[in-house]
Amino acid sequence: MAYQPSLGTRIQRVIEYHRLRLKFLGERVLGHEYVPLRRRITIEPSGHCNLACKFCGYAKKEQGRVVMPNEDFARYIDQATELGFIDFSLTSSSGEIFFDKGAAWKLDYLDNHPLTGTYQFYTNLILPNQAMIDKIFNLKKLEWMGFSIYGHDLESFSRITAKPEKQYNRLVTNLNRIADNSGSGKDLFEIHLRTDRSFNWHPDDGIDENSSDLVKAMYRAVTEGGVKWCGNWEIYDTWGGLVTPEDVVDLDVELTDGSHQPKVGACILLFDEPMIFADGAVNACACRGIDRSLQIGDLHTSSLKEILSSDNTVFRGIIDRHQKSDYPETCKDCMVYRSVYRKPRGWPFTTIAEFFKKHDERAAGK
Ligand SMILES: C[S@@+](CC[C@H](N)C(=O)[O-])C[C@H]1O[C@@H](n2cnc3c(N)ncnc32)[C@H](O)[C@@H]1O
Ligand code: SF4
Ligand code: SF4
Repeated sequence: MAYQPSLGTRIQRVIEYHRLRLKFLGERVLGHEYVPLRRRITIEPSGHCNLACKFCGYAKKEQGRVVMPNEDFARYIDQATELGFIDFSLTSSSGEIFFDKGAAWKLDYLDNHPLTGTYQFYTNLILPNQAMIDKIFNLKKLEWMGFSIYGHDLESFSRITAKPEKQYNRLVTNLNRIADNSGSGKDLFEIHLRTDRSFNWHPDDGIDENSSDLVKAMYRAVTEGGVKWCGNWEIYDTWGGLVTPEDVVDLDVELTDGSHQPKVGACILLFDEPMIFADGAVNACACRGIDRSLQIGDLHTSSLKEILSSDNTVFRGIIDRHQKSDYPETCKDCMVYRSVYRKPRGWPFTTIAEFFKKHDERAAGK
């Protein structure tokens, strides 16, 4: 059975829930809104994936199992940069960037575009070949790459991803290829482990002859390749109810219904980072929404400028629903939700009204 939190943990979460909820409600009463003013957009190169992780919505996704054509990608990048977006995420909402045979072309397009700043993405690191790994080390604008590593040995890899040894071996090979580039992964790559809670290993613990090939490869990537170790992720959301407790019954992870997270008003992700799905649909947020309940337009019929404008009643409708705490299904259990009434650290912010004013100014080229 999947992990269940202890009574003590549950009590602590209830206390923290009410503390934060009161804080956000207080900010709301004072009329304070903290909408981020970053300039990043996610473009999903591939809606297909090579794995079928049991806690991921991918296996149950009904739309968008396509790869984005290169010419569409170029058109979307051009439109986004014209609107003032300078930073890009290529993390598929539920898919894998290197499933796309045009990934190298797309990376070159971004890297050589005169108006792009930086880009970053998560990958499961299984599909790139040696040539692609070499290429990654030579990209100029790649700011960050997160390796989502599923499992800690062959048994756990196969149990979590529902895939056989061949893909496990490719993952081990690729981590070793990264490690071979001595120290150059520093400040560029991170390992984000996703395995059973009971696996408590840290690179400082070292390895021995009983360590799995995957642990040995991760150890080399960290100690020789300079890859940052970001530990194991233990709590997963249900992708708006798509993932059920039965799906993760043989994983030692916690599946949350999101009820321990206070939701007050709109989520900042609605403003922070829109996403273009591989099929050209535009999603209000870069996080969830594979049920398309956050879709605000389609780039085959409208421009990005029109879709993101304050005149888009579908977009405004989603924000209004959030402000009334009437959240779409996909947002209800989402762990990434951040209230607009939570004062952020480290980036500039504004109000919702100002946000749209600024967007419209940018769209008008001001
Ligand atoms: C959906 S994946 C897409 C990119 C790529 N395929 C990968 O696995 O890195 C993006 C990230 O979401 C994480 N993820 C998947 N399902 C999740 C869930 N139910 N709760 C929290 N994170 C999840 C993955 O582990 C991964 O790090
Ligand atoms: S978590 Fe990533 S690798 Fe796993 S099925 Fe989802 S999209 Fe694919
Ligand atoms: S709650 Fe989650 S899915 Fe909904 S807008 Fe926020 S980050 Fe996106």
